[in-house]
Amino acid sequence: EFTNSPTLIVMVGLPARGKTYISKKLTRYLNWIGVSTKAFNVGEYRREATRSYNSYEFFSPDNTEAMEIRNGHSWLHDHFNPSNIRDYVHYQINLDCLQVFDATNTTPERRQVILSFAKDNGYKVFFVESICDDPEIIAENIKQVKLTSPDYTDCDKEEALVDFLKRIECYQQTYIPLDDDTDRNLSYIKIFNVGSRYLVNKVQDHIQSRIVYYLMNIHVTPRSIYLCRHGESELNLLGRIGGDPGLSHRGTKFASALGDYMRDQSISDLKVWTSHMKRTIQTAEFLGVQYEQWKALNEIDAGVCEEMTYEEIQEHFPEEFALRDQDKYRYRYPKGESYEDLVHRLEPVIMELERQENVLVICHQAAMRCLLAYFLNKSDDELPYLKCPLHTVLKLTPIAYGCKVESVFLNIEAVNTHRDRPEVSCSFTCNKSPIRELTYMKSLRPCLMTFLLISCSCMKPIETAIVA
Ligand code: F6P
Repeated sequence: EFTNSPTLIVMVGLPARGKTYISKKLTRYLNWIGVSTKAFNVGEYRREATRSYNSYEFFSPDNTEAMEIRNGHSWLHDHFNPSNIRDYVHYQINLDCLQVFDATNTTPERRQVILSFAKDNGYKVFFVESICDDPEIIAENIKQVKLTSPDYTDCDKEEALVDFLKRIECYQQTYIPLDDDTDRNLSYIKIFNVGSRYLVNKVQDHIQSRIVYYLMNIHVTPRSIYLCRHGESELNLLGRIGGDPGLSHRGTKFASALGDYMRDQSISDLKVWTSHMKRTIQTAEFLGVQYEQWKALNEIDAGVCEEMTYEEIQEHFPEEFALRDQDKYRYRYPKGESYEDLVHRLEPVIMELERQENVLVICHQAAMRCLLAYFLNKSDDELPYLKCPLHTVLKLTPIAYGCKVESVFLNIEAVNTHRDRPEVSCSFTCNKSPIRELTYMKSLRPCLMTFLLISCSCMKPIETAIVA
């Protein structure tokens, strides 16, 4: 066991206790903070492995044939055993990756299989048990996510509900929760009634403590988060990035329209957050309510490129400009920041957003992309190109396992500050763009510069550059 061995996060609990919700949300968070994580749902595996589900009897403890499929032992091996993974590269990726095993795992025997499996494969294990005895919460969960499951396609909703409740009873016959005494050496968190109480045992490392902290901050109260940028600024009008300008005339009109829009939403407990920058504060002033300023919400710091246009950056810092296009997420402006830095800076904002209910966040293009990527589960590669136009509010409302997005343009014209991902054409045949592929070849940075400059002008095949 190494300090940095990856953790296998194992869900525990009866059906309809929010295990998949927690798995998906936790996976999204961990990926967003840069910890590669994959979730595997045994229900999906079971549906792939057999079409034989036709009633709750499939889940009866006496149904030995079905039990084999449900136990998913072969499934565990398929996914975690390195010798079974043909693709070595894939295996390497998995080694660094946290895994969330999303299944009921309601018996000590089943948990023991997982523990010995993890031991053989160098994983630490962290159990997340969701315990809920509130019939209203359970009924709401069934209504939200279970009745629409592929198990109940073409099935009457009432019949499906009865069947699902019987399925829960099947599990209840053998369910033994994690035990304070016999499981005292295991690492786990027990979550009671969607977070009214927690019990945490033997946290093994930093990542596990971050998992615990995250799980203790999330809630399921219905609410909406409103994201927007400041009104158009004087520098936006000139095509210049960064700086600390005030609003343009149209920017002021947007601020006033935003005030009207938010008042129409009639939210009595609305919280309003801005950055420390003049343009977001001037926008918030029009709302006529108290607002809170967060330095963490400031725009990406473009360092030596602050207040320049993209054309000026290309002219004065051609290498930097090309490098940013090559890997926009990781590229850090000299004396400035990268999107990756920004995500780390914004983590406390996300954590606080998870704790709050209705919030309006008035921020900036890059900051808003980072927040949006978290809520919409976007990859590092997609994040810096997400579209966050000026004078448009994105209303995010959590639903089932995801988030509903409403995009509301407030009808005040503004300049377009979005720069599309540059097209790369070349003869190199691989799935990824060749330029981005080269990101991993850090030692080639000086050669890469030369290559980029050549390739931009004459589009020579990339092999030449690699050989050079
Ligand atoms: O142009 C407005 C702006 O907010 C700049 O201040 C910032 O540098 C830029 O957007 C971020 O967008 P991108 O990462 O696409 O350059």
